[in-house]
Amino acid sequence: MPSLICIEHDGTAHRLDAQMGQSVMRAIVDAAIPGIIGDCGGACSCATCHAYVDDAWIDRLPSAGSTEQGMLECAIEPRPGSRLTCQIEMSTDLDGLVIRLPASQI
Ligand code: FES
Repeated sequence: MPSLICIEHDGTAHRLDAQMGQSVMRAIVDAAIPGIIGDCGGACSCATCHAYVDDAWIDRLPSAGSTEQGMLECAIEPRPGSRLTCQIEMSTDLDGLVIRLPASQI
């Protein structure tokens, strides 16, 4: 079971176990960690699952698709490393992934 490290905006860090194929958004929401809303349920149509992938991991993820890239324009304070966590699917390759949550989603 892959795990990920989720760091809240205030620096509070959590290590979470995720199911294979589960989205990072779902893993964080199911763990009740504040900072991710996931309003559209993972349909890539709300941008309230925006987060920053740690620099050490960004090149290890599949690139964002065109729909995700378009929705990222709706995210609050996007920057290099911004991704929609509903579009990142956990796998053994991503075991130990580090995700930093933004200050706000709306
Ligand atoms: S949950 Fe809505 S875009 Fe990710």
